[in-house]
Amino acid sequence: MRTATGWQADGTTTLREASISRRDLRRDDIAVRVDFCGVCHTDLHAVRGHNGEDVLVPGHEFTGVVTETGADVTAFRVGDPVAVGNIVDSCGVCSLCAAGQENFCREFPTLTYAGTDRHDGTTTLGAFSREYVVREKFAHPLPPGLDPAAAAPLMCAGITVWEPLRALGVGPGTRVAVAGLGGLGHLAVKFAAALGAEVSVVSRSADRTADAVRLGARDVVVSTDPDSTAAARDRFDVLIDTIPVPHDLGPYLSLVAMDGTLSQVGYLGSLTVETMDLLLGRKKLTSGGSGGLLATAAMLEFCASRGITADVEVLPSARVTEALDRLERGDVRYRFVLDLSDLD
Ligand SMILES: NC(=O)c1ccc[n+]([C@@H]2O[C@H](COP(=O)([O-])OP(=O)(O)OC[C@H]3O[C@@H](n4cnc5c(N)ncnc54)[C@H](OP(=O)(O)O)[C@@H]3O)[C@@H](O)[C@H]2O)c1
Ligand SMILES: [Zn+2]
Ligand SMILES: [Zn+2]
Repeated sequence: MRTATGWQADGTTTLREASISRRDLRRDDIAVRVDFCGVCHTDLHAVRGHNGEDVLVPGHEFTGVVTETGADVTAFRVGDPVAVGNIVDSCGVCSLCAAGQENFCREFPTLTYAGTDRHDGTTTLGAFSREYVVREKFAHPLPPGLDPAAAAPLMCAGITVWEPLRALGVGPGTRVAVAGLGGLGHLAVKFAAALGAEVSVVSRSADRTADAVRLGARDVVVSTDPDSTAAARDRFDVLIDTIPVPHDLGPYLSLVAMDGTLSQVGYLGSLTVETMDLLLGRKKLTSGGSGGLLATAAMLEFCASRGITADVEVLPSARVTEALDRLERGDVRYRFVLDLSDLD
């Protein structure tokens, strides 16, 4: 084992600097010096829900530089810039892996943190740390031209909305709504607009209308204003719902057009659905999370060709607790990214 420094949750809301273990490199592993890691709302859920029993180091969207390669590594060399997301392994042989959907692996993909390593059974520790060891297959070359700090959030927030947008055929002529203008939401707006769709944001207030328009939306539907939602009834072919708390899907399904789809990617847990909200208009309800390796590579290529990255506020990693507190209050436009160099 080797040691690295990371930010560890201990059952309270404060993360503390700690020495953590990383595995020695396997033949197909690379070691990455983590330079930037985005702060996802999932990290907030994880830290707030942490009971202090297991070691928890959050962080699952990061960029950095390869510092060491295992004996069989062919895709990377020391010094290469890389990007890694929220899954770091899968079985590789089930039908879903074979279809390029490692994110849906029948054996469940190994999560970047709080997952179980397929080989030694240890709990994975995330990238709020200066070093990460990952199978080369699950690391992506960071395309030149993408700012490493602003590209980090593409690897969870980005891919999580990219894959549903692509799977649902979003393009010119599609009317897309994005509910919740946060980390996932602002990238969904950028992607859908760049794919040629007509995009609207569904937000709790009109405060972010100027931002929404700058990101590529035509308008904002204010979810707390009955006149605004009534005017947008049955309007959208696709609605990407990124809201991080349990909520009634009815008002959001009312915005979906006949045969349209609501993709619920934000709150992962049980929700009650009123069948009539689907029946009237033959509407569809789906979900998704992360993305397959091919889709992730395609997203990075698309972002590089269109110059798309996240809107970020970069903070030294020592300010991680402040970032989580502000994320909880919705005080971020639109993704915090930690600069891990202060751990040297
Ligand atoms: N499926 C996956 O694999 C996957 C991957 C990553 C994240 N997630 C989940 O996706 C969710 C969003 O993550 P994120 O990082 O984008 O979070 P975020 O940056 O906090 O954005 C969430 C947005 O939802 C809206 N919102 C927040 N609280 C709300 C409430 N109580 N009621 C209604 N709307 C609310 C806000 O937008 P407005 O102010 O515009 O209303 C907020 O900006 C989280 O639950 C996260 O765990 C899932
Ligand atoms: Zn995430
Ligand atoms: Zn599999």
